[in-house]
Amino acid sequence: MHKDVVIIPRSDLETQKDYALQVRAMPNRPHTYHIVTFGCQMNAHDSENLAGMMEDMGMTAALTREEADLVLFNTCCIRAGAERKALGNIIWLKEIKKDRPDMLVGICGCMMQQEGMAAKVLKDYPFVDFAFGTGNMYCLPEYLHRLLDTGTRQIRVALEESTLVEGLPVVRSDAAKAYINIMYGCNNFCSYCIVPYVRGRERSRAARDILAEAESLQAEGIREIMLLGQNVNSYGSDTGDMSFPQLLRALEDAGIPRIRFMTSHPKDLSDELIVEIARNKALCPHLHLPVQSGSNRILKEMNRRYTVEHYLEKVQKLRAAKPDIGLTTDIITAFPGETEEEFGETMALLETVRFDSAFTFIFSPREGTRAAGLPGHIDEVTASRRIGRLIRLQESITEDILKSLVGQTLDVLVEGVSRRSSRQLTGKCGRSISVNFRGDASLIGRIVPVTITDTGSNTLRGTIEGE
Ligand code: 5AD
Ligand code: SF4
Repeated sequence: MHKDVVIIPRSDLETQKDYALQVRAMPNRPHTYHIVTFGCQMNAHDSENLAGMMEDMGMTAALTREEADLVLFNTCCIRAGAERKALGNIIWLKEIKKDRPDMLVGICGCMMQQEGMAAKVLKDYPFVDFAFGTGNMYCLPEYLHRLLDTGTRQIRVALEESTLVEGLPVVRSDAAKAYINIMYGCNNFCSYCIVPYVRGRERSRAARDILAEAESLQAEGIREIMLLGQNVNSYGSDTGDMSFPQLLRALEDAGIPRIRFMTSHPKDLSDELIVEIARNKALCPHLHLPVQSGSNRILKEMNRRYTVEHYLEKVQKLRAAKPDIGLTTDIITAFPGETEEEFGETMALLETVRFDSAFTFIFSPREGTRAAGLPGHIDEVTASRRIGRLIRLQESITEDILKSLVGQTLDVLVEGVSRRSSRQLTGKCGRSISVNFRGDASLIGRIVPVTITDTGSNTLRGTIEGE
């Protein structure tokens, strides 16, 4: 275990449970809460834990933020846009608080963990009652207790962000699918990325804790688990416990019907993992493998530690081992100094690999990262032209791939009814593509075979037997 990592003893969590009970008994406590979540699946899962703590304190979920006694913003800061969105929302709440001065407003998540943010909230956002970072979110009951008890604002961001906490309460947002964190933090320091600064060093949970969580979820009827980590391929390298492929095998042995994971770093995608992907029957045939750029010079500047050739070799091995696998990726364009030719190399890479889909981003300078100080800023017009070209190219590739699936019968985990009609169901196939079909709502939460008949935009349409 890295020396910066702090394992929170179970007794600290017991202390927090005591605080939660005390809050429950306070006459001035809030009765309803609403959490607004920005950003990635990690944040979505943190919000499930935050909801668990709120409910331990006797609160129930309010459907809208306007009607809640307590509103908590779980923020993201991966790009400037994410940060602007979160701040815009928080400031909007200032107006609502004029009518409802008793409403409590809190901020947490990655944005709070940035240097200087706590001081900024203290000074510039006096309507924020409490704030905490990613490393000390387990202390929410204590902070709320102090706030209610003393009436003083609780703006508490721990300097130590690399904590590992087991046993937080949780309220799951989905009856059929569940997130499980297997590791936290990132050691990669890609030159553009703020994550290692706000989420701390890599630390893996013990395999026995992960397995116990998966088994209890399965007993509750969960059909699919998504293993979460910034770089799941290096799971266990800090603890020497199990390797990631070994963990996948143990989860299959535990009888989990469907397993997914994200995110994988191409440099750490081992042959052992490729073998496991081909062998493991529970693993969905989908891999998210962010490539970021198709130019070797840009990849080097990004500190990604692989070349386009290495990446293509992994893709080829993966497809040889599991021909039906669907690949998705992340791309950043307009990285400082990216020439037209280098951008063309990224376009060419998309054509070569043919991803099912790609998340495309314009480079956003993040204070404190190495890339923020690089020369060669790309103007906005060029950046939006480039991202537009990437999006259009990817759309046509996605369309071709979706069409090639027509006629196949795919296993779909039914997630719910579509917005348009209660007889229209929607779910995801193993490749993680949305599939819509007619069926009875009683199928929600089940895995059913759907024969694909047609395509929509980014979706498939199909039929099930008997409909
Ligand atoms: N600018 C643009 N995109 C970024 N990403 C991470 N940091 C930045 C940044 N500073 C993208 C990467 C990553 C995804 C989660 O967000 O593509 O894989
Ligand atoms: Fe950021 Fe790179 Fe870590 Fe992903 S691998 S979280 S892009 S530093």
